[in-house]
This record gives sequence, C-alpha cells and structure tokens, in this order.
Amino acid sequence: MQIDRAAILDVLGKITEPDLKNDLVSLNLIESLELDGAHIRLSVRISNPALHARKRMQEAIEFNLRRVFGQQLQISCQIQGLDAESRSARRKILPDVKHIIAIASGKGGVGKSTITANLAGGLAKKGYKVGIVDADIHGPSMPTMFDLVGARPKMTDVNGQSLIAPIESNGIQILSIGFFTSQDDAVVWRGPMASKALTQLFTDAHWGELDFLLVDLPPGTSDIHLSLMQTVPLDGVVIVSTPQEVALADARRGIQMFRLDSFKVPIVGIVENMAYFTPAELPENKYYIFGRDGARNLAQGMQVPFLGSIPLVQGVCEAGDAGRPAVFQQNTQTTKAFDELVHNFETELNAILAMRK
Ligand SMILES: Nc1ncnc2c1ncn2[C@@H]1O[C@H](COP(=O)(O)OP(=O)(O)OP(=O)(O)O)[C@@H](O)[C@H]1O
Ligand SMILES: [Mg+2]
Repeated sequence: MQIDRAAILDVLGKITEPDLKNDLVSLNLIESLELDGAHIRLSVRISNPALHARKRMQEAIEFNLRRVFGQQLQISCQIQGLDAESRSARRKILPDVKHIIAIASGKGGVGKSTITANLAGGLAKKGYKVGIVDADIHGPSMPTMFDLVGARPKMTDVNGQSLIAPIESNGIQILSIGFFTSQDDAVVWRGPMASKALTQLFTDAHWGELDFLLVDLPPGTSDIHLSLMQTVPLDGVVIVSTPQEVALADARRGIQMFRLDSFKVPIVGIVENMAYFTPAELPENKYYIFGRDGARNLAQGMQVPFLGSIPLVQGVCEAGDAGRPAVFQQNTQTTKAFDELVHNFETELNAILAMRK
C-alpha cells in the first residue's frame, strides 16, 4: 500500500488512547510526523506518563503501521506523557464540571476532610454548584461530616447508561468510597482495586453540571494519588497543613509530588489548619500551641499562595461530627475564617486560570 501522510494518519486514527477514550488523531496527540522513504518518524503524547503505558502505546503504533505498510517499514517512535495543563484542555472526563480540585496533605489527621467539607459549604453558600468525591479509601469521612452514614447511592439511567447518582446533603452532591463499604471491609480496598473503585466515582457517576468538584484525598503520596491523577486531570490542588514541623515537612513533599513534570498540577495554595486554639469562653484569645506561622512561611518559601488560617475550636470538630460543616453556622469566628479561605481560594484559582489564557 502507498505510504503517505494521509494513509499514516488513517492508521493512527484507529488507535485509541486508553485513558482519554478516543483515537490519537481526534485527540490531537500526534505532535510530529515525518515520512522519509520507508522510514516514519513520529512523536506522540499520551495521558499516562508511566513507562509501561508509553511502551504499550509504542508497540500498538508499530504493530498497526507494519500491518498496513509492511514489516520492512522503519519506525522511530517517541512517546511522551501529557502535562496536566494539556490534559485538562483535552479532558474528556466530566466535561460539564468546570474545576476539579483536590485537597491534599502530606500528613494524616491535619484536617483535609474538615477543610474539604467547609470549602465545599462556603462555595455552595455563594451559589456555586459543588460536588465532593471522598477518595480516602482508608478512612472515608464525608458520610459522617454530612450526616450520610449508611447511605447507599441509587443508580440512574442517563441516555441508556446506568450511572451512580451522587447523594445531596446541605446542597452539595457527594460520593464517598464509604458508601460502598462497611467499616469492616475497608482493608479489602487496596492497590488496583481501590484505584478502580475510585476512578468509577468519576467515570461512572452522574455529576451533571458543577462549578467545583472537590476531591478529598487520602494522606501522603501513594499509588492511589498517582493513578488518580493519570485518569482524572486535576485543575488544582489545595494543600492542608498544621503549623507543626512534622506536618510541614510532609506538606512540602506533597507539593513536590504535584509539581512533578509528569503531573504539573497547579497549587492553588496552602491552608493552615489548627493554626491557633481559641477557647469558646475566650473567643478573642489565640494560643499558638503548634507553633506560629509555619504554614505561612512554607507557602512563602515554596512560592505558593497562602489561603488562610483556621483556628482549632471545638465547634469545628462538633460540627463535623454532627453532619453540618461549621461554615454554615451564623457569624462565628470560625465562619469568618472559612469565608476568608473561600474568598482567597477563588482569587488564587482565578489567577491560575488567567495565566492559562
Ligand atoms: N480546625 C479544627 N478545629 C477543631 N477540630 C478540628 C479542626 N480541624 C480538624 N479537626 C478535627 O480533627 C480530626 C481530624 O480532622 P480530619 O478528619 O478533617 O483530618 P484529615 O486530614 O482528613 O484526616 P485523615 O488523614 O485521617 O483523612 C477530626 O476529628 C476533626 O473534626
Ligand atoms: Mg480525611
């Protein structure tokens, strides 16, 4: 068969990008293509930057081209991962969701889930349509924080496809890995199975139109994070830390992971949680029990925005346990701190979006 560009593109147009679920040509993933006699040189981008994924794509391309143009064909094929920015521009998953933002921390127990719930609540108060994916396979918190313990999502039929319907609480759409497990079998959710279940909360759910989908991540920098980022292109990440040195060191590692070339997820900013203790009977007093300004200094040192300080107060913890985030309370010190966080979050996200244009 005659080799020319059109015939080559015809072959490449039949090869599917496994994560983005469309062919290489439609997705505009062929970066360069040269034909020199019986020698084809091409460079292609794919979503998953891992070596095995790139190798598999290279084999698929070589196999298909040789099948059509003959075994003697010489092929020099370079495959690279997409960076996060191009991934979200080509995002096929959840095209009706404007921003997918993860909430992460290096260390566990610093208040990621609390910040996720209150950020979601604060954005919802402002009239945004908000959803939450509780991706913490080890200790899902959203069922408790939104009074949905024991809830089981229904399936809904959308254009002949059966999808999971998120459950609404306080005006926020929620799916938690905890809706599909009982506490006892949490240990089963490991490795690839956990990643798959988690991915389905994005791909097999009916999120509809949302302004923000917040993702409450498990602590640390695990395989779950990597596989999630390969399937769901994040538009940004909020890092939570306490002012303690151990938490800050882990937060720094977290930021470095998101900044890796293969991910390049923009850091919207750092939130300092449990920044100071304020006793209910002395609301004007601030006790800096975990140290002062640690997260603010980290933000400055790593050149990422500082989004605000949330005090350690009994009301935040109680509100979490009672299933209605503290941000919905009337005019307390805490509500003010959360409202300010929401305001700074919007400002910094807009700055990131403006830079992209
Ligand atoms: N600002 C705060 N004031 C009082 N209590 C808080 C505050 N932030 C978090 N807590 C409480 O601390 C505990 C841990 O918080 P949370 O579950 O949000 O942390 P996490 O980082 O999501 O933890 P994990 O790593 O286990 O997912 C919870 O009981 C929560 O109610
Ligand atoms: Mg949590």
